[in-house]
Amino acid sequence: MNVILLGPPGAGKGTLAHLVKQSTSMAHLSTGDILREEMKNETDLGKEAKNFVESGQLVPDELVTKLIAHRVTSNGQDSDGFMFDGFPRTTGQAEDLTGILEGIKKPLDYALYMESTLPVIIQRLSGRRVCRKCGHVYHIKNRPPKKEGICDQCDGELYQRADDNEETIRKRMDVYLQNTKPIIEYYERQGMLRKLDGDKEAEDLLNELMKLFDADGKLNNH
Ligand code: AP5
Repeated sequence: MNVILLGPPGAGKGTLAHLVKQSTSMAHLSTGDILREEMKNETDLGKEAKNFVESGQLVPDELVTKLIAHRVTSNGQDSDGFMFDGFPRTTGQAEDLTGILEGIKKPLDYALYMESTLPVIIQRLSGRRVCRKCGHVYHIKNRPPKKEGICDQCDGELYQRADDNEETIRKRMDVYLQNTKPIIEYYERQGMLRKLDGDKEAEDLLNELMKLFDADGKLNNH
């Protein structure tokens, strides 16, 4: 099964993807995580992406599409499908993804749209902390680690993303409204869109999603 997680920054796409991954054998592909890894390793791509990512702008379509196409074609036969998180973000990327999935003969099953409101987004993103070592995501109030500043999973150090400050969050939100919101209609026209209330508890969303997959027979067929 192939699924896209759509929604504004901080809607909880990464958090939900992590929970779904524990309940299925789907691979989680987050373009944000991949780009941050490239930046950390100071690859050519990471250097090219850094200014875009840290200022809340979109990285050019051509670069991200190439990253995704490479991962899908190299892992496509081994996983039970993909959860695309943060991709596509433009109509061009959505069209590219259709082509990539046609290439592996595994079409898209759902575009899940996580709606959320700006006050919730700002509260979530300004309190988000990420493990430097394993990438696990926490929130200082909603999902705190057992020991402040330390990852429960691997004892790694927790840090705040450079783009998680109020000014850049507002910029990311503008970029989202201008570039990404239009692709919601693109998937609605294709009958693939399902809406989820991103302001709900992540575990409740997971249950809702598993019921949807089950009712549509997706859990047994993939
Ligand atoms: P990316 O990393 O994708 O950032 P984003 O879309 O802004 O999304 P976030 O990761 O900020 O939020 P999320 O929805 O995953 O929320 P999370 O689960 O962490 O992209 C970063 C940048 O990379 C972009 O700005 C761009 O420059 C570039 N980029 C990436 N993809 C690109 C593309 N395709 N094309 C071009 N450029 C691209 O949750 C947030 C916080 O809330 C956490 O602390 C979490 O613990 C908490 N939380 C989550 N869910 C809940 C809940 N239900 N209840 C309570 N707390 C919750």
